[in-house]
Amino acid sequence: MFDTMTLTKAVGALCGALLVFLLGNWAATSLYHVGGAHGEEVAVYIIETGEDEEASGEPEAEADFETLLASADAAKGEKVFGKCRACHKLEQGANSSGPYLYNVVGRDVGAADGFNYSGALSEVVDVWTPEHLNGFLENPRGYAPGTSMSFAGLNKAEDRVNLISYLETFSE
Ligand code: HEC
Repeated sequence: MFDTMTLTKAVGALCGALLVFLLGNWAATSLYHVGGAHGEEVAVYIIETGEDEEASGEPEAEADFETLLASADAAKGEKVFGKCRACHKLEQGANSSGPYLYNVVGRDVGAADGFNYSGALSEVVDVWTPEHLNGFLENPRGYAPGTSMSFAGLNKAEDRVNLISYLETFSE
């Protein structure tokens, strides 16, 4: 039944179909890219006109953080601290795999006596203000590349402010 000729035709037809499909696909992606290029132009335009807004946008973001911090819930922060407990203690002087966190809000970076810091933190921050803690805890290794704190980070802004407000209760 399947002589060589039939087989050759069948294979030929398949290849033809594949070619048409690939060409169609290519045409579609090129069209898409053309569209993308237009999209980029539009985006550039938006950035240009948005400069004024950007200038006034930054203080707004800070105000947002302060508002969020002001409404933070230390009791919920205690739960979030469960993620830190394996490495950090809250008593003065009690270092474990991480430095003790007593009084850490407002404390100088790298100031826990007797703890062997990596040095990566003091490269990027001086004092652990709530803002800096917020940035560090969101993405420790992105914020302070090379830090020896192997913790993925807290994605939720609410978790971070709740935790910071909990940490604030352990201070002088
Ligand atoms: C796997 C262990 C580990 C976990 C989990 C961890 N840390 Fe750390 N943390 C460390 C280590 C180690 C350092 C020292 C980092 C360095 O020197 O680069 C550190 C440093 C810090 C510092 C800087 C302290 C200073 O004295 O400068 C803060 C603040 C901190 N951690 C907060 C937290 C919080 C809050 C959590 C929970 C959300 C947490 N860490 C989770 C290990 C950990």
